Amino acid sequence: MDGRDLLRAVKDLGSVRGRRAWGAAWRHRRADAGALPARGAERARVPGPLAGADPRPGGGVLHFARSELTVQVAVGGAVFWGWDGAAPLPSYGLAGEGPEPDGRAVLEPDTDGGWRVVSERVTVAISRNGAVEVRTPGGAVLRRELPPRWWEPVSGDGPARWVQRSEVAPDARFFGLGGRAAGPRLRDGSYRLWNTDPKGGFGPGDDPLYLTMPVQLVVADAGTHLVFHDNTWDGRVTLREGEEGAGSGQDRPGGCELRMDGGPLRTWVLVGTPARVLQGWAGLTGGAAVPPAWALGHQHARWGFGSAAEVRRVVAGYREHGLPLSALHLDIDHYDGHRVFTVDEERFPRLPELAAELRREGVRLVSIVDPAVPAEPGNAVYESGRAAGAFVRDASGREVRGVVWPGDCVYPDFTHPPVRAWWGDQYGERLAQGFAGVWHDMNEPVSFAPFGDATLPRSAQHALDGSPGDHRAGHNVYGLAMARAGYEGLVRLRPAERPFLFSRSGWAGLQRYGGTWSGDVESSWPGLRASLALVLGLGLCGIPYSGPDVGGFGGSPSPELYLRWFQLGAYLPLFRTHAAIWAGRREPWEFGPEVLEHARAVLAERERLHPYFVTLSHLARRTGAPYVRPVWWRTPADRALRDCEDAFLLGDALLVAPVLECGADRRAVRLPRGRWYDVVTGAAHEGPGQVLVEAPAGRIPVLARAGAVLPVRAPDGALELEVWAPARGRTGSGLLVRDPGDGWQVPPVERYVTRWRDGRVEVEREDGLPVAERVRVRGV
Ligand code: GLC
Repeated sequence: MDGRDLLRAVKDLGSVRGRRAWGAAWRHRRADAGALPARGAERARVPGPLAGADPRPGGGVLHFARSELTVQVAVGGAVFWGWDGAAPLPSYGLAGEGPEPDGRAVLEPDTDGGWRVVSERVTVAISRNGAVEVRTPGGAVLRRELPPRWWEPVSGDGPARWVQRSEVAPDARFFGLGGRAAGPRLRDGSYRLWNTDPKGGFGPGDDPLYLTMPVQLVVADAGTHLVFHDNTWDGRVTLREGEEGAGSGQDRPGGCELRMDGGPLRTWVLVGTPARVLQGWAGLTGGAAVPPAWALGHQHARWGFGSAAEVRRVVAGYREHGLPLSALHLDIDHYDGHRVFTVDEERFPRLPELAAELRREGVRLVSIVDPAVPAEPGNAVYESGRAAGAFVRDASGREVRGVVWPGDCVYPDFTHPPVRAWWGDQYGERLAQGFAGVWHDMNEPVSFAPFGDATLPRSAQHALDGSPGDHRAGHNVYGLAMARAGYEGLVRLRPAERPFLFSRSGWAGLQRYGGTWSGDVESSWPGLRASLALVLGLGLCGIPYSGPDVGGFGGSPSPELYLRWFQLGAYLPLFRTHAAIWAGRREPWEFGPEVLEHARAVLAERERLHPYFVTLSHLARRTGAPYVRPVWWRTPADRALRDCEDAFLLGDALLVAPVLECGADRRAVRLPRGRWYDVVTGAAHEGPGQVLVEAPAGRIPVLARAGAVLPVRAPDGALELEVWAPARGRTGSGLLVRDPGDGWQVPPVERYVTRWRDGRVEVEREDGLPVAERVRVRGV
């Protein structure tokens, strides 16, 4: 406990909730002390020498003196290996049953007494002592995992800890590990794998945050690979970037050390271009849920809307200022005493009427949903949950009590299918109130605690979908399983519509059910930078839909900071202003007439780009490519780009270079190769290289790729194709997926090609059908 925490803990004693939290923290500590004895003597183990190998479909089993390794290449090129008999299933990360083994991959002897599995896209070589090497078909080594080491309790009772050290190329850069404020490039340091509410807000130095996962995307000259250590336990990843010409002029490889407190040692690796790798990852863990098109518009939230009247006032403000608004979010204040699935009828009377009224104006209501249920006899959710045996119990069979907003609470065990079904049914109440979507919060899960871990005791029991265990294994997938419960419930209750769901916590595979958001990012310039880091990093882990609290969560941003945040947010998938109950306002008109005018322009541009966002949302599902991509997406071997963290690509067509610094009115932008047009001035810049662009208060620098064809919404509402002239003699292209409505129809992907003909830029549909849309050529 540092000084700040100590102060907070003492202050907590002054409030009822604080005293309850003290009580819960003590209870949790006692529960763990009784159920999880301290680790006694341990014995270390390594695989030992290789004794033999048996081929199996897609690979084989390698027998070591003290362990066994299963290696399997799956159809599509993903490689799996598992120690000590670990198999791909069961897994919270994988979608369905996981991929089939690729029968063409063969196990054959390698040099030096090792073995290798050779497949079309990758070769896996296993050494005599249990090192596993991932090589490209050309023979370049992308990753070498050294023989693992386990520590097992001598008593034979309890989980084995393990460590896996790996090496990557000296030039490699690390990304991912879920949502990391310090990213997107993960520099030397230690990153914990334990979903955590940073309490009250976070900046770039805070780690871990709400959504961690053992997924790294590693980019090097020799190739890109994604590695997934499929293990939900608490762990720590220590990264060290390599160095070329280090020490005596020799290269030093990059290093990664993964230490886990328990759970299986099993690994998936995907290799290829970033696009290929992310496509394979989506194949493995599931395509991203496509949000309804309205969820790609501007959304407004606040913790602390005191009444329906205040909500009406805010919506009227948007209307009167002529600002588009797609959704308004109700936080815990609209609950009766913060109790989930209730409504404070005094402050929010006749909520369905309010919802219908707003809906007529084109504004949807979204509801926060917290997992903790107040442990109050008579509370309908509590009573029905008890009857269903829904709540997490401790090792002695008692309901685990924690403390959240409503006071003493219990926690549904979402890792139990009947509990998910029961929980999903509760969303019927939300739909009846008129909500169009849900916002899952506090699902790391949180139990307020003045000391210790602000979550459930580690000894709390979970069903874990048929492999019962405790919170050490269940913690990191709690939010993921809750998302599944909510998503499946909404699909059952409202089968004609795609759910809109986003969740603060999650794990690998969350995208199957929805997106996420930054959580309580601090209202500061570093917080703004961290917002972009989070969105980029999550996208590279397979979660394409996310965004920050525009303006930051807990403070009162200056007009300048607010505007810069608003401008960045407009180019991110989830574009939502939000703030804490104690924080300053976030309505665009609260920051003076100048900011209001600039915000109006930003909102108009977001509306104009709406068809492009819709296209990106469908492409994300089908191809695994996030909407927001690092600038090196298409050219990962461009090292200068690899180190560029303050700009991003939005789809293929746009390069967005937000202003992340106080007082800046211009900024440097590093360009990928090719021609790029400044979308405001039309000036053409040639990449690769760096250019200086003007960024006065009203402008966020955005560049369009020459040859891009992007679907936009014209002022009259019609769909229009905006074509950025290819360089002379070159061609270009773009994709369009039309909004199929809020149902499940899968619309076709239309491809448009552009080229110079007879001194003019022309556009054609690749399928030969006539181009029905208006075309606007720019950059000539
Ligand atoms: C958490 C959420 C925040 C929300 C608040 C109250 O701090 O991260 O978005 O406003 O709880 O529900």
